[in-house]
Amino acid sequence: MPSLKLNKIVKDYGNGPVIHGLNLDISDNEFVALVGPSGCGKSTLLRMIAGLEHTTGGVFSVDGKDLTHATPQNRNMAMVFQSYALYPHMTVYDNIAFGPRIRGESENEYDKQVREAAEKLNLTSYLDKYPRQLSGGQRQRVAMGRAIVRDTRLFLFDEPLSNLDAKLRTHMRSEIRSLHNQLNSTTLYVTHDQIEAMTMADRIVVMNQGRIEQTGSPLELYDNPANIFVATFLGSPAMNIFEGSVIQSGDSLRVAFTDQHVVSVPAPSKSSVNVGDRIMVGARPQHLIVTTEQTENSLPMTVSYIEQTGAECFIGLEFLGEKYSLVSQDRIAIEAGTQVHVAFSKTHLFDKNTEIAL
Ligand SMILES: Nc1ncnc2c1ncn2[C@@H]1O[C@H](COP(=O)(O)OP(=O)(O)OP(=O)(O)O)[C@@H](O)[C@H]1O
Ligand SMILES: [Mg+2]
Repeated sequence: MPSLKLNKIVKDYGNGPVIHGLNLDISDNEFVALVGPSGCGKSTLLRMIAGLEHTTGGVFSVDGKDLTHATPQNRNMAMVFQSYALYPHMTVYDNIAFGPRIRGESENEYDKQVREAAEKLNLTSYLDKYPRQLSGGQRQRVAMGRAIVRDTRLFLFDEPLSNLDAKLRTHMRSEIRSLHNQLNSTTLYVTHDQIEAMTMADRIVVMNQGRIEQTGSPLELYDNPANIFVATFLGSPAMNIFEGSVIQSGDSLRVAFTDQHVVSVPAPSKSSVNVGDRIMVGARPQHLIVTTEQTENSLPMTVSYIEQTGAECFIGLEFLGEKYSLVSQDRIAIEAGTQVHVAFSKTHLFDKNTEIAL
């Protein structure tokens, strides 16, 4: 029953902390995706959990047992790295059996495990092949096989799919998730890929500069971002942010973006703002509506580009020198350079100074 607890974890490589007293609980059988910009400390955190990196401060425990300073061998976790680091001169079988052999297990003991792992990963017919004879996805599965024969239920992944092409990634995404379900494991999965995080995880942890900004289910974070950072980090194209002042609050929220640009916007149900507040209005690209006619609730914008993918129409917009984006399911027949009028169908509101959701 691996459940993890990180309590006030600190990491300092010698130039000041890069992880600042981080708290995180992961339940048994949970699949948690860890996301955040490059350099925010994701790999550092994973390596500390695996015992590959010394922890400067705080306590890390598994099922209540303090493992903060335990050796990697005594943690019983499997880690899969971005580069799968297979042994090129060994067959798939030998690569998977490497761990048990090093631990001194006899062939009787590990042979069944290796074959079962290969079966789960669709590698049975490749056991005699060498890594160079395999595709990227097959190599990835061998790396997973090595992790599985560790006889652990606690998996750490550090961007394991980033070397694969789009099609293989999609395939491996569902394989990793179904393996997690089959083995009843607990998984912490670092990724740069939002679609991976959104589709694979029970819960997403958004990190920024060594701290957690927000945790929640993928849709909770998407629908109710706690602050501007999370709002603009999740979702592609990113949420548009407009600065303005509240002219009228209540059911009908009126916002002045400039003296000449005052419009009504649909306010989120729980938000509380007062007349005079400086706010940021966030609108996902899907929640901007383009019209050719001016209305009293539209802002005049210039089309900088338009891209049709068939299913969707991506429009780049400019307003007061800032760039915005709009995505529509409808095919909109306008050209770059045209002036259009843009209204809001849904918004998120944030305090201008604290950047926290209102
Ligand atoms: N061995 C090290 N020595 C000193 N500083 C390090 C070391 N490893 C990482 N850092 C620093 O710690 C911070 C976090 O790095 P880390 O590798 O954990 O980021 P990350 O979130 O995994 O980034 P990426 O998404 O690019 O992989 C960075 O500022 C990095 O420069
Ligand atoms: Mg990293």
